[in-house]
Amino acid sequence: MKPIRVMTIFGTRPEAIKMAPLVTELHRRSGIEAICCVTAQHRQMLDAVLEIFRIQPDYDLNIMQPRQTLSTITTKCLLGMEGVLEQARPDLVLVHGDTSTTFAGALAAFYQKIAVGHVEAGLRTYDKYSPFPEEMNRKLVGDIADLHFCPTAANRENLRKEGICEGVFITGNTVIDALKTTVAPDFRFTTQLLNQLDYTGRKVILVTCHRRENYGRPMEDIMAALAHLAGAHPEVELVYPVHLSPVVQECAHRHLDGIGNVHLIPPLDVEEMHNLMARCYLVMTDSGGLQEEAPALGKPVLVLRRETERPEAVEAGTVKVAGVAYDDIVALADGLLEDSDAYRAMAHAVNPYGDGFACRRIADAIEWKFGLRDTPPAEFQS
Ligand code: UD1
Ligand code: UDP
Repeated sequence: MKPIRVMTIFGTRPEAIKMAPLVTELHRRSGIEAICCVTAQHRQMLDAVLEIFRIQPDYDLNIMQPRQTLSTITTKCLLGMEGVLEQARPDLVLVHGDTSTTFAGALAAFYQKIAVGHVEAGLRTYDKYSPFPEEMNRKLVGDIADLHFCPTAANRENLRKEGICEGVFITGNTVIDALKTTVAPDFRFTTQLLNQLDYTGRKVILVTCHRRENYGRPMEDIMAALAHLAGAHPEVELVYPVHLSPVVQECAHRHLDGIGNVHLIPPLDVEEMHNLMARCYLVMTDSGGLQEEAPALGKPVLVLRRETERPEAVEAGTVKVAGVAYDDIVALADGLLEDSDAYRAMAHAVNPYGDGFACRRIADAIEWKFGLRDTPPAEFQS
């Protein structure tokens, strides 16, 4: 029997981190021919992940340009994917999450009537401008996709409300699979600062911030709040690996350069990031991925956004949505730095997003759908 040709398509750092363990799993299956296409919507931040997970893409569209717009990303991906799909003729395309690569990859496959599987399906805020453009991207991909791999039961429920009930699987999030391979108690950082930090005597706050809907006033307020916190709390070491977006770089450096206990550093590779997260005191972020990883590592998270599509850890009590207003961010962070009961109440490990076997379930579901297996995988239960 001919193997099923399954093409993974991804382009940004988080998609790569979350697809990498799936690429590995697909390669393990004898009934599957795994093909990997990257758009390189991110160049350096993607390549860092490819290197760590030793992935060599079969196709690379190399589309990134400085200060790229949503239209240029989408059109370059769509046009590039046309030729790739014509040449590779996969039976199934897998896209991940909610980026412009995700949307354009799914659309390109649809135009050639190739089946689409959506990994990390069913996340919703129900606000089409927040996160922007991600909420619309994932909704549109939900309509295009034939297979939907939901991390949690709540994600499946979101799809059900939209009338999407066929081909839906609860698998857990593949990021927890990745996390299992990266965190080690004796990990040595290549970034010397991270080896030198005193993680028990000082309070290390890990910060990231990049979302498009935070550009402008929200990001100004977030950075000003961080500067204030560093000044008001000499016991803090604020470590902020700054996203390579020029918009973010400019704002972060303008507010935070020259503050002694603030460390603005280049983006970390994923092993360094996960191991720093495992050692830090608190995470402050607008990232989706960090909201999933930190709870698994028992670290409290303040989300620097107005809402979240990841309510599970909020319900479990380890994540709080701080918003984007200066006063709110400062008040919540002050609370966690000054009130040890408040801190302890949030600092416990929960795993609502996965058990580390999401990729196995996804590959099993694909094999089942294509007739290579008699039964579907058992669902992930948190
Ligand atoms: C993108 C995704 C967002 C995801 C984020 C993860 C869209 C619309 N946005 O946002 O959903 O959360 O990735 O980080 O798909 N840059 C580099 N080198 C890199 C990466 C980025 O120089 O390796 C710079 C470039 O100037 C680029 C800019 O960052 O133009 C912005 O990148 P882009 O992919 O457009 O937006 P992100 O904010 O990264
Ligand atoms: N990450 C990383 N290095 C960094 C910042 C983030 O490896 O300097 C990882 C992080 O652990 C998570 C993913 O990148 O797995 C999240 O990416 P990002 O915040 O850019 O995107 P989002 O998750 O918000 O889409």
